[in-house]
Amino acid sequence: MVPLKRRKLVCSDTGNTGTDSRGQTKFPQVVLFLLERKMGTSRRAFLSQLGRRKGFQVEELFSERVTHVICENNSGDEVRAWLDSQSGGRAAAHLLDISWYTESMRALHPVEILDRHKLQEPQISESEVAVFSVPSYACQRRTALDNYNTTLTEALSILAENAELSEEEGRGVAFRRAAAVLKALPSPVTSVSQLRGLPCLGDHSLRVIRDILENGASSEAESTKESERYKALKVLTGIFGVGSKTADRWIRDGIHDLHQLRASEQTLNRSQQAGLEHYDDINQPVTKAEADAIRGIVEKAVNSVLPGAEIVLTGGFRRGKVMGHDVDFLITHPQEGREVGLMSKVVSWLESQDLLLYQKTTRNSYLESKDGPGRPASNMDRFERCLSIFKLSKKEEPGAENLKTVTENKLGRHDHGLWRAVRVDLVVSPISQFAFALLGWTGSKLFERELRRWAGHERGMSLSSHALYDNNQSRYLRASSEEEIFTHLGLDYIPPSERNA
Ligand code: UTP
Ligand code: MN
Repeated sequence: MVPLKRRKLVCSDTGNTGTDSRGQTKFPQVVLFLLERKMGTSRRAFLSQLGRRKGFQVEELFSERVTHVICENNSGDEVRAWLDSQSGGRAAAHLLDISWYTESMRALHPVEILDRHKLQEPQISESEVAVFSVPSYACQRRTALDNYNTTLTEALSILAENAELSEEEGRGVAFRRAAAVLKALPSPVTSVSQLRGLPCLGDHSLRVIRDILENGASSEAESTKESERYKALKVLTGIFGVGSKTADRWIRDGIHDLHQLRASEQTLNRSQQAGLEHYDDINQPVTKAEADAIRGIVEKAVNSVLPGAEIVLTGGFRRGKVMGHDVDFLITHPQEGREVGLMSKVVSWLESQDLLLYQKTTRNSYLESKDGPGRPASNMDRFERCLSIFKLSKKEEPGAENLKTVTENKLGRHDHGLWRAVRVDLVVSPISQFAFALLGWTGSKLFERELRRWAGHERGMSLSSHALYDNNQSRYLRASSEEEIFTHLGLDYIPPSERNA
């Protein structure tokens, strides 16, 4: 219970709650919240005002102080699922029909709660429908690649992507978290009531889920996919080097597709030019076989310039994915310092073999003494990094020669029968930071985000792809394996194949 004194303070500050002429709350034990869903915004505002005038505390926002949730035309399981998602299953508020509220206002005091006032919550026996339970941080869960709820997670991912493309990061993360919870479930969801107590399922995500369970599809996700703006953002950000801000600017200039972009006066930077030139290849998924072929090339390049260096395939392929949008590698040397200067030599070697269509290398700018603990947790790391486009030969495939003649005659530009363009990221890490770099570059993106959130919120630590800093002890926690980092963080070890959140 919140102490009376503090509650009064909150009440008089917000002016939202019912107080009598002396500023005292009339019924301090009763904190009401009117659920907007199905009631509507204006009716809710009207009923809230009315209640306050009669001396009731009616909260604008839901919090754990709320003792009575008032609903109109909602089913009990729907409201229970919503409530659990707001409070992580901890809230113990009464779920009441509007009739209790109107009767209380008429009586000028909270009336006794009778059965007919309570929302009917179906009594589900465990044997009838499984009720799921998962921990709230994605880094506490095992998320394998197979997912029993792809219709639900795909719809939520579309909405997440649309939010991200529209620079609404918060909304994007909320949808990603909701999708990740569903990905971790051991069987398909058949009823909203199964979702009781699950974390990260907000009002909006629950609406999407309900729509799919009832109608087979989410009208919101479908209309998003069909919207001109979403389609244009997808096409334009599909160009390597083009982010959502650039795409948005172009759309405002009337550019919605590649044809319009090519015909426009827009000046493109070097990466965007390469991205446009190799658009079709780059937007075609990379297979595991192609990733392995590229690993062979990278190994050859690295070994010829620094024997003894180690190369690890990271990103989605390390998590067991069979397709990816690019191929990510982490390179190190067991002797600290030997990795310095490695990247430029590797790039020169690759260029001498005509294996690169584009590359941009950024230097290592990480300095522990400057960057470490004070810096906010972020997914931007400062390793020496090469963003590149590889020219991957297809010569192993039979019939490539014939294909070459055909495509060259038709297109006259690329001998696409012989090679394809593949996006490749190379990252070089000193061995002392290698475990952090490996953990940071294995993903998934949401898993990484959740690790950092866990570290900060639950442990008072800052995690990056370079280091782990313990704010309580004011010192760095060293690690030479991913397992040690999980241990420092107080988490069970999750192998890469189960980080597909
Ligand atoms: P990717 O974007 O390559 O994702 O980043 P992915 O999981 O491999 O997916 P696909 O298959 O390519 O589409 C791989 C990991 O590298 C980290 C991301 O957080 C992700 O976990 N990363 C990426 C960084 O740490 N920094 C970056 O600048 C980019
Ligand atoms: Mn990747």
